[in-house]
Amino acid sequence: MSQPDGQNNTLDNLLSESRTFPPSAEFAAQANATAEWYDQAAADREAFWADQASRLHWDTQWDQVLDWSQAPFAKWFVGGRLNVAYNCVDRHVEAGHGDRVAIHWEGEPGDSRRITYADLQREVSKTANALAELGVGSGDRVAIYLPMLPEAVFSMLACARLGALHSVVFGGFSAEALRSRVNDAEAKVVITCDGQYRRGKPMPLKANVDEAVKDTPSVEHVLVVQRTGEDVSWNSGLDMWWHEVVDRQSENHTPETFDSEHPLFILYTSGTTGKPKGILHTSGGFLTQAAYTHDVVFDLKPDSDVYWCTADIGWVTGHTYIVYGPLANGASQVIYEGTPNTPHEGRHWEIVAKYGVSLYYTAPTTIRTFMKWGADIPAQYDLSTLRVLGTVGEPINPEAWMWYREHIGGGTAPIVDTWWQTETGAIMISPLPGVTAAKPGSAQTPLPGISVKVVDENGTEVGAGGGGLLVLDKPWPGMLRGIWGDDQRYRETYWSRFAEQGYYFAGDGAKYDEDGDLWLLGRVDDVMNVSGHRISTTEVESALVSHDTVAEAAVVGASDPTTGEGIVAFVILRGGAGEQAGGDQAVTALREHVAREIGPIAKPRQIMVVPELPKTRSGKIMRRLLRDVAENREIGDVSTLADSSVMDQISAGLNTSSADE
Ligand code: PRX
Repeated sequence: MSQPDGQNNTLDNLLSESRTFPPSAEFAAQANATAEWYDQAAADREAFWADQASRLHWDTQWDQVLDWSQAPFAKWFVGGRLNVAYNCVDRHVEAGHGDRVAIHWEGEPGDSRRITYADLQREVSKTANALAELGVGSGDRVAIYLPMLPEAVFSMLACARLGALHSVVFGGFSAEALRSRVNDAEAKVVITCDGQYRRGKPMPLKANVDEAVKDTPSVEHVLVVQRTGEDVSWNSGLDMWWHEVVDRQSENHTPETFDSEHPLFILYTSGTTGKPKGILHTSGGFLTQAAYTHDVVFDLKPDSDVYWCTADIGWVTGHTYIVYGPLANGASQVIYEGTPNTPHEGRHWEIVAKYGVSLYYTAPTTIRTFMKWGADIPAQYDLSTLRVLGTVGEPINPEAWMWYREHIGGGTAPIVDTWWQTETGAIMISPLPGVTAAKPGSAQTPLPGISVKVVDENGTEVGAGGGGLLVLDKPWPGMLRGIWGDDQRYRETYWSRFAEQGYYFAGDGAKYDEDGDLWLLGRVDDVMNVSGHRISTTEVESALVSHDTVAEAAVVGASDPTTGEGIVAFVILRGGAGEQAGGDQAVTALREHVAREIGPIAKPRQIMVVPELPKTRSGKIMRRLLRDVAENREIGDVSTLADSSVMDQISAGLNTSSADE
């Protein structure tokens, strides 16, 4: 397999990276945040965050910035009251910006919609009225299973307006994944659409909902947006067309006011066990950090910038940096429905040129794909409006960073490599584009107001040049407030490893270089990072074992030049299923089975049928050894295996099959 430039050098560069790119004097002079912000935040963290919270409109001022007395359950801006949707929509209209474009929506087939803040206010109000008519009120849960349509944004904001929690389920997830999330949150309403355009074709979506709601007792209504106009089957007991219910509603809706700690949304993410975790975020603190980080990390100038975040609304990046951050800041942004190579590989750059995009935020996996397609493609477009480039989701290798800077950023646009998680709610570690001398591949510095440490197994801080585990040692406003319905799991997952010190353990390895800059080194737990998305090994293993032919499965993430990590599965077939059952057809069937159970994103890149799995004497699968096999490396130390001949058996009897796309 060909490797993009520099892929082999990542480690070397990491050890010796000396290139730095300070912002131009011009950029620095106009930047929203300056170096003093670090000092101010360090001098008085709470005062700093209070300043950031004053970016928002509060109906009632808070009387305490932070209450950490019930740690690890934080309360921020205690006693404050606000409406999140009012902050993202109405107040901009009231400030005279009703005519400013909120969303330039671009459909994959080339259709488009231009939605101003005044339009957004009308659409969100109508949607809120419709949801209220369907019985949705404060504290209720609404599942949103929509692709990148404006209605996804309207729905999320309508929930926020009503004090209902949204649970957005990525449109690429399967019926089964949707069902389990709807049931965990006990959602009352599901919002979906007939289908979406993907790679030039209408793809059905509603059929998954039909399948899921056969077994979701909490669901009272399914609201269906018409996007493709393709036929859908109709369940008259539940289904209603969006245009029939929403379009006839009043364009006025008075937002209620909610406590700063009122829940805003649940978003499911993978952990080390099979069951996804419903990460819970609340209102005032989340919106404060979303607005602050979006402003300073992207250096947003709301009256002149055009911002574009290419994430899907189904991931946290879509929540914080498509919906809440940009809209709280009154930004104009592009939302694009489709894939980057439809109808051609220059689609993103065509969109940048069409709208004059100035701030562009994407994932390293996408950048590596663009590298593969070649620099001559972006070179055909006018990208001169781009002035800040961002990346998120996984470490970016220095050569991809350099390519991004040179071929997309014209050799001048600062790059912000932003580290954060579903759980942190918003960006935590990132350069400030007008302050930091950027270093390719490093996320560099915690933002003003954020505190992190790199510690060893005992929780002792490592110094410059040292590596260890990344922890967050002080609470932050956007932090998760728990796991939906499972306080115990919340404590165990994030707070038990360094309970004595009271640190939040992020699950990532990190190191400081000699300059004190931070380098993220990937997950240290059994969570894979595929195209910037977290998928747990256990989840894929459970899906495999749920297939009739599989007795046992072990899954590892193996490094992959484009997707960061690729999923490699080792399966033992059930007695009698035998050798020939491990042929291409069976492997294809297993890959399809995983796609059905979880979603195409979790489809293993490779499935190897093996006679045995390497286990310790206590029965723990030694993934390290399987990773050696998956990455074609010499197999490491096997001395702790219960049966040391197992790796020989695996190597001898490997029956491999590669991905079919
Ligand atoms: O491992 C880190 C990686 O993505 C994980 C969080 O995944 P998720 O909750 O899905 O959120 C992704 C978008 C915020 C982290 O634990 N990660 C995210 N950003 C970076 C990163 N790793 C290195 N550098 C980054 N900039």
